[in-house]
Amino acid sequence: MIDRLLQLRQATEEAVRKVNDIEALNEIKVKVLGRKGELTNLLRGLKDLSGESKVEAGKTANDIKNILENMIEEKASDIKTREMERKLLEERIDVSLPGLPLQTGGLHPISRVTREIQNIFIGMGFAVAEGPEIESDYYNFAALNVPKDHPARDMQDTFYISEDILLRTHTSPVQVRTMEKVAPQIPVKIIVPGKVYRKDDDATHSPMFNQVEGLVIDEHITFGDLKGTLMMFAHQIFGEDVKVRYRPSFFPFTEPSAEMDISCVICKGDGCRVCSHTGWLEILGAGMVHPQVLINGGYDPEKVSGFAFGMGIERIAMLKYGINDLRLFFDNDKRFLTQF
Ligand code: DAH
Repeated sequence: MIDRLLQLRQATEEAVRKVNDIEALNEIKVKVLGRKGELTNLLRGLKDLSGESKVEAGKTANDIKNILENMIEEKASDIKTREMERKLLEERIDVSLPGLPLQTGGLHPISRVTREIQNIFIGMGFAVAEGPEIESDYYNFAALNVPKDHPARDMQDTFYISEDILLRTHTSPVQVRTMEKVAPQIPVKIIVPGKVYRKDDDATHSPMFNQVEGLVIDEHITFGDLKGTLMMFAHQIFGEDVKVRYRPSFFPFTEPSAEMDISCVICKGDGCRVCSHTGWLEILGAGMVHPQVLINGGYDPEKVSGFAFGMGIERIAMLKYGINDLRLFFDNDKRFLTQF
């Protein structure tokens, strides 16, 4: 019995040593240690022995069983380790391969147009100035000749933080703020991009939108300077073939005041829905700086004169890109934004 056990041990050890894959190892395990396996069979034969030899053979059989079980287990983990190493080697990452493209953001169309407008004026010698969006009644209205009871306030109703503090309705307050900082130096040549707020909300008006203000102060500034500057701007942003016209208008902070139209960029002046069949599109307000505004800013209207203008950036962007709903700019829909 003991001989047969030892033989079985030797044969099994040899087989296990040779084996190289988990299936073959399992076959050996079943063949020897399984329910009908060779060692199990030998163990069953134990009951026919007696006394000393039964005890001895039983002990040997159990030892061998443990030894073989351990050996098979070790071999199994060996095979698994080698298998894993092979897999790792096979699936090694080639770090020289090009990476996956990253999703990058882009400039919002309003930022794009703002920069374009800025660059055009920078090219004409303007500097860029900024002012606060939370503004005082004084800078937003009073300093611009719009006293508390003035009807011009109706068109620019806004959000009040207190009686005297509000969200600015236009970028014009930066005119007097800048003058106060630099007066009596000349020339002043600034543009002011920024957010403004009004109590408006429809397809062409939003409670928040963007404007660019312009201000020029120097000796002998005339309406001709205004026209030349803004014509240059219109040609650069909409193309050389765009026509420009001025209509008389009213703003409390300019005198005289005008609105500038350009020939419709959609129909080239023939008349279409966008220009309400007039062939013209209004794009900005402008005028000669009112003497009182110059005084409020610390300048002497006898010595200097100036012109100013203001335009809505969303409107320029809508015309430039043929967009018919202002709200598209603020919806943050990537299908819209990725087109720019
Ligand atoms: N601030 C005016 C508005 O928001 C636009 C404007 C008109 C600005 C004439 C100016 C100007 O500087 O001269 O409606």
